[in-house]
Amino acid sequence: MNFIGSKKLQKMTASIFQEVADRKMEAIRKGKDVIDLSVGSPDFSPPSFVVDALVESARDTSKYGYTLKGIAEFNEAVGFFYKQRYEVDLDPEKEVLQLMGSQDGLAHLATAIVNPGDYVLVPDPGYPIYEASVNIAGGVIFPMPLLAENRFLPNLTDIPMEVLNKAKMMIISYPGNPVTALADKNFFEEVVSFAKTHDILVVHDFAYSELIFDGNPQISFMSVSGAKEVGIEFNSLSKTFNMAGCRIGYVVGNTQAIHLLATFKSNIDYGVFYPIQKAAVTALTSDFSYLQGQVKEYELRRDALVSGLENSGWQVAKSPATMFVWAKIPSGWTSRQFAFELIDQAGVAVIPGDAFGEQGEGYVRIAMVQPPERLSQAAERIEQFLADSLIKK
Ligand SMILES: Cc1ncc(COP(=O)(O)O)c(C=O)c1O
Repeated sequence: MNFIGSKKLQKMTASIFQEVADRKMEAIRKGKDVIDLSVGSPDFSPPSFVVDALVESARDTSKYGYTLKGIAEFNEAVGFFYKQRYEVDLDPEKEVLQLMGSQDGLAHLATAIVNPGDYVLVPDPGYPIYEASVNIAGGVIFPMPLLAENRFLPNLTDIPMEVLNKAKMMIISYPGNPVTALADKNFFEEVVSFAKTHDILVVHDFAYSELIFDGNPQISFMSVSGAKEVGIEFNSLSKTFNMAGCRIGYVVGNTQAIHLLATFKSNIDYGVFYPIQKAAVTALTSDFSYLQGQVKEYELRRDALVSGLENSGWQVAKSPATMFVWAKIPSGWTSRQFAFELIDQAGVAVIPGDAFGEQGEGYVRIAMVQPPERLSQAAERIEQFLADSLIKK
């Protein structure tokens, strides 16, 4: 038998991530020490009080059944968190939906909302599930270029009217992955008015809402007037509380859109394991001092990496947020050449920018998932790599 992937599967791009992983393993097999800055999975631990809540709850054998849409306490905890952290009021019953990680919602939303032939406006570069979800739904992707000269914001006036007439949904993410830029309230207000004019659902991915540095404001899209009429916001405990493997996240905002996603999901999964929900409630209703400490740790990492790279002569922008550095590569390489040679020669694994869309060419994404000392060491190796390649040229 010869099984060939469907046309939809063929449109998906796991290939570059896999290629980086394969190259990394190959280098390790050859005896190289590889500093892995490729995958965005946090290396920090969840707070101990969250682990305690999980363990304690796991002992209750009456809590091993399906949980469906989750416990009311979780939705209330999200409401509390949004009020405390972003000054947003939510109706826990109608404006919050629990997810098995925000990926769950991001992957399924388009199928719940988009018909084949409908357009979806997607950031380029952008987190890969945005495109993949539209492909699964049979929608048409319209990439919105995010360029440094426009502060990585899409230019809404560049989108042709024939696209807008068929557009059902628009995805944005500030701060995002791989682009770490922040948006201001003015931009979000422009998006609300644009969405109202063209009858488009706005999807804001706020997965990095608690990794915002240097005292920059943490602006939820939901805090903007009119946002709930046009949009929803995804968020997660994965990066905020280092619970990525627990698979718990949520979406907030527009009641109708949330209801549609909930209906779709009720056909697919039966909810998150109860002890994980209890742990999430504990995290979301804590005193948040853990979050301040974590931001400081990431700032130290970012400063070690960026200043180390500066010493090597490679000027990269200082990320205002997230666990990534989105670095424009020196001229003379494609993103893939640069990333692959970096693994083979310097023993540093990063992701080539074109994995995130056409506009990612010329960049690499560096994940700050190692302690500052190891990031400084990576920068030293890169310095040597750049010096060696100058000699070769
Ligand atoms: C921008 C962005 N959104 C969403 C996700 C999905 O996170 P999770 O499903 O763990 O909530 C990620 C994960 O890396 C991400 O980078």
